[in-house]
Amino acid sequence: MQPAVLSRPASRLALQARGQGRTLQNRVASRVTGRRSKSSRSAAVTTASLQTERNDTPTWKELVSNDLKYISNAHEKVVQALNPEEREMVELQQKMDTLQEELASAHGQIHRSEDLVDKTLGELKQLEKVVAGLQGGATAALLEVAPPAVEKKEAAPPMQRSDSKSKRNTGLKSTLKIEPELKNFWYPIQFTSKLLPDVLEPIELFGETWVLFRDAEGKASCIRDECAHRACPLSLGSISEGRVTCAYHGWEFNGAGACEKMPSTRFCKGVEVRALQVVERDGLVFVWTGEDREPDIEVPDLAPPEGYVIHSEIVLDVPVEHGLLVENLLDLAHAPFTHTSTFARGWPIPEQVKFHLLEKLGGNWDPYPIDMSFLPPVMTLSTIGLNQPGKIERGMRCGECEKHLHQLHVNLPAKEGRTRLLYRMSLDFLGWVRFVPGIQMLWKQVANQVLGEDLRLVLGQQDRMERGGDTWGFPVPYDKLAVRYRRWRNQLGGMSKASKAAEITMNAGEMFMGDEEEEFLETTQA
Ligand code: FES
Ligand SMILES: [Fe+2]
Repeated sequence: MQPAVLSRPASRLALQARGQGRTLQNRVASRVTGRRSKSSRSAAVTTASLQTERNDTPTWKELVSNDLKYISNAHEKVVQALNPEEREMVELQQKMDTLQEELASAHGQIHRSEDLVDKTLGELKQLEKVVAGLQGGATAALLEVAPPAVEKKEAAPPMQRSDSKSKRNTGLKSTLKIEPELKNFWYPIQFTSKLLPDVLEPIELFGETWVLFRDAEGKASCIRDECAHRACPLSLGSISEGRVTCAYHGWEFNGAGACEKMPSTRFCKGVEVRALQVVERDGLVFVWTGEDREPDIEVPDLAPPEGYVIHSEIVLDVPVEHGLLVENLLDLAHAPFTHTSTFARGWPIPEQVKFHLLEKLGGNWDPYPIDMSFLPPVMTLSTIGLNQPGKIERGMRCGECEKHLHQLHVNLPAKEGRTRLLYRMSLDFLGWVRFVPGIQMLWKQVANQVLGEDLRLVLGQQDRMERGGDTWGFPVPYDKLAVRYRRWRNQLGGMSKASKAAEITMNAGEMFMGDEEEEFLETTQA
């Protein structure tokens, strides 16, 4: 045992023992010295006298023997005193051993956990790439994200441009105005999962203000966000027993827009605000915004394809006209030029990018494994094929890939120059990922990065449009799908009810002959 580990009493005893040992040595030395002195002093000491001396005083041998006994006793005492400490130390040592074993076991567990975390992070990294890649040509923005700064200049009045010789006579016409005919559709305005009880959500559509909430039965309701009394925004109020209570004087409106309570005054019958027809389907809240007529088309089917699981639903406010955003989403040729920091980082510039029409408003990209379509009035759908998570396999068809990401973008015309964007992402693999804590933040981050790359360009287009610029000055073959969207939009005003219904049913309508348009774009390019 090392002195350093002795307890204080034990140390004391050990010191005493050492002190006594030194005393004994001194005494023995003294005896021996004394004997030598006697021998030198008198050589005539007799045996008798020695005998007498032996009888009266102990001999040096006896003294040594006694001292040795003393030492032995002291040693035993020390050992006795030390024994409990030793026992404690043994027990402590055993406990230390046990703790060390437990520590080693914990270390092993930590290493296993670290491996698991590393693996999960690796998967998430891959997923990040997947999402970015799967955004292919599509953009998304976050509500809280400020758009990239684009210097807002005083918009010059649209003018006849003198550089029209370099343009094709496509007949396409972009506009920042919202056509009234666009109102006559069903619009998904919120995800069911995000419409919580006792919450009032103000929503702007076609420049009009609405408030979305759940009534007493939990049914989604959408009424005008403007009190019938003094025009206070109802969304500033609260919900009481399923009725919206105005924050100003407490009038209460039900899900049908009827006022049911007027505190502090005599109740007047028949007071109401406008309410929209609401349908919940496929996890989305749809409203019919047509003003003068009942719905004449079916609520569109926007459920993810069979075998896909929804992983992310994001609602975004984007400061651009919704048509420009639709055209951006329907364009993949820009990816290796625009998305150089996200999903298209390192992509080579293809010799040719093509879009093969499979239907009037949809088809597949070449060389990218992405199927894409426009669904009137404001939806885009895309399915991205992946051979490995995060890796878009150029040169393949979407259907040839093992894994897929499906995207829905709903580009709601909030008001002039403003879009409410609903984004839903589904996967047919990695179903467990949606339970990973913080995964929604990751999706949002990815969406935000991709948006940042698109938004400054689209905002720039909008600025040029405000100055009389033409976003369809010289379309080429890879613009085909966006051209079709724009043609659909331009023709909207003259579309009959029947043709509109047919178009929705057929997912395209027979507005254009595909071959004719293909020929036009190909030949005029030469
Ligand atoms: S403004 Fe709403 S109750 Fe008066
Ligand atoms: Fe993009």
